[in-house]
Amino acid sequence: MSLFRKKTQLPEFDPTRVPRHIGIIMDGNGRWAKRRGLPRSAGHRAGIKVLEDIVEYADSIGVEMITAYAFSTENWKRSKEEVDALMALLLDYLKNFEKHLGGRNVRIRIIGERSALSEEMQAEMIRAEEGSAKNTGITVNMAINYGGRLEITKAVQQIAQRVKAGELEPEAITEDTLSDAMYLAGCPPLDFIIRPSGELRLSNFMLWDSAYAEFWFDNICWPDFRDQDLLRAVVAFQNRDRRFGNAQ
Ligand code: IPE
Ligand code: IPE
Ligand code: MG
Repeated sequence: MSLFRKKTQLPEFDPTRVPRHIGIIMDGNGRWAKRRGLPRSAGHRAGIKVLEDIVEYADSIGVEMITAYAFSTENWKRSKEEVDALMALLLDYLKNFEKHLGGRNVRIRIIGERSALSEEMQAEMIRAEEGSAKNTGITVNMAINYGGRLEITKAVQQIAQRVKAGELEPEAITEDTLSDAMYLAGCPPLDFIIRPSGELRLSNFMLWDSAYAEFWFDNICWPDFRDQDLLRAVVAFQNRDRRFGNAQ
């Protein structure tokens, strides 16, 4: 049950047709900072704060799950200074999760390849997940060192091990076998993907689960994203005709 009660101001909003699961590619932090003459890390800090606000608002309108892209497997290409700043911010966010959304009934799960992250970060991930596991509000999947291709590769490795062990016949592998080996196994289907900042690409986000997701792109940079922008996006989603390959 949501603890957040906020007003929706768009009359077109239909509370009975809210996407259950929204993916957000939190992009544009660097450009936002540059325009203000600030270091890129200031953009990332502002971006984390915006995620908190948007999660609360999403919960208040009935969204069940948010998958937020925080750090991609390709983001290691950035300067050491920026990577270190991002990791420090994410660590701080996880350490203080209870003081923020965790204390307000939000559950967190981390998705992505953890082995490349510091031991301290890995420990905080487990702690934040376990500490919020009993919360009953919206769930946030934070994608940290996440890559869609790596996710599929890891799933295939896991399935190949089962074949090698004689537990599974190759012919018995179905789409469900793959789905069950993905991070979002058992989650509500990923209905809707939002990407601010003007880029019109997935950048390796949720390659498997995006098969029939709806997309919403906008020029706004993530740190400028507000409740009304989410509502605008959700209303656009509600006006889509989702056919899943069917005829009209
Ligand atoms: C998104 O903002 C955050 C991460 C990729 C970690 P960017 O840092 O990519 O911001 P722009 O795209 O350079 O503006
Ligand atoms: C995608 O944004 C990754 C995250 C938002 C975490 P990027 O800024 O890394 O993507 P590209 O490089 O513009 O494709
Ligand atoms: Mg970017």
